[in-house]
Amino acid sequence: MKRFFLPIASLAVVLLASCKPGGDSNVIVVGEFASLTGKEATFGTSSHEGTLLAVEKINEAGGVLGKQVKLLTEDNQSKAGESSTVVDKLISRDHAVAILGEVASSRSLEAAPICQQSKVPMISPSSTNPKVTQTGDYVFRVCFIDPFQGTVMANFALGTLKAKRVAVLTDVKSDYSKGLAQFFEAGFVKGGGEIVSRLDFNGGDKDFKAQLTAIKGANPDAVFVPGYYTEVALIAVQARQLDMQAPLFGGDGWESEDLLKLGKEAVEGYYFSTHYSPEAGSPLGAKFVEDYRKRWGGKSPDAMAALGYDSAMLLVDAIKRAGTVEGAKVRDALAATKDLEGVTGKTTINAQRDATKAAVVIQVKGGKFKYLETVKP
Ligand code: PHE
Repeated sequence: MKRFFLPIASLAVVLLASCKPGGDSNVIVVGEFASLTGKEATFGTSSHEGTLLAVEKINEAGGVLGKQVKLLTEDNQSKAGESSTVVDKLISRDHAVAILGEVASSRSLEAAPICQQSKVPMISPSSTNPKVTQTGDYVFRVCFIDPFQGTVMANFALGTLKAKRVAVLTDVKSDYSKGLAQFFEAGFVKGGGEIVSRLDFNGGDKDFKAQLTAIKGANPDAVFVPGYYTEVALIAVQARQLDMQAPLFGGDGWESEDLLKLGKEAVEGYYFSTHYSPEAGSPLGAKFVEDYRKRWGGKSPDAMAALGYDSAMLLVDAIKRAGTVEGAKVRDALAATKDLEGVTGKTTINAQRDATKAAVVIQVKGGKFKYLETVKP
């Protein structure tokens, strides 16, 4: 028996080895890595649902370069160390011609050097830390960056909350959190505000009483928490238990249905900035909301879903203009993207490979996310 297997096995090796990225097969393989499970499961799930919807729309319309797009999605379980493993697999085993992901900046930063070294373009839908695209010329994003988001929330604190004295509570395990804290502080101090207390936690922590007690002692007007929803919900609950009166506010990392489920009344009235609201409406946006609801059982799209959708559309637009899936040519086409209409607005890729887009401010009201305002860059 063994004798028959050997030639077949070696034939398979030869066939696999000759299969170049995007080669002669009749599909174009695009890899996606996402936190489908674990601590930030709603981030990856939403982003994936938006991305897959875009790929389905593209394929319905005939695909690109005469081929269908095949999206291969890998789950990193929200864990550090997993993104590099799965992205490596998507590139070397599956020969993905491009990589879409991630939401969390730390996980995008983990995978970006692999894409850069392999000369496989990577598009992060929603990582906002500036360092992500600084990795190299194969790394792009379709969203704004945190120097902008931090300034938006600094102005919001000064102008709308009328806060002069603010405390900042940062997740030191998260590049996103550390960066956003820094950019917020710079904008807030520049606008005449004062940071009265600075405290840290580690993503995954469950008890924030010590930090919150110290913050309460500093008597701030408001508390900026640039974290992710799992910890933010616990922080809000514990702040209320300590009878803290100062309102909490934060950035896009708050955006999850789970913030409402876990935080309940404790997050009521609080504010955060993000990229998109179905209520902020554009013509393309309205159609997207309708399509997304139909595809995903009535669920409304959030920022991650909308940016996931736009990341796939950006990639396909670039492949079409490049006329090939060859990494360097797709990279050049991505870099040349100008005014591409999407559901989160127009995407123009700037010299830093970032996009410039408006932010929206949301308030938790009546157990829902209520759109307050759009802040243009
Ligand atoms: N911007 C966050 C980060 O860089 C991720 C995020 C995007 C979270 C959009 C929620 C919504 O880590």
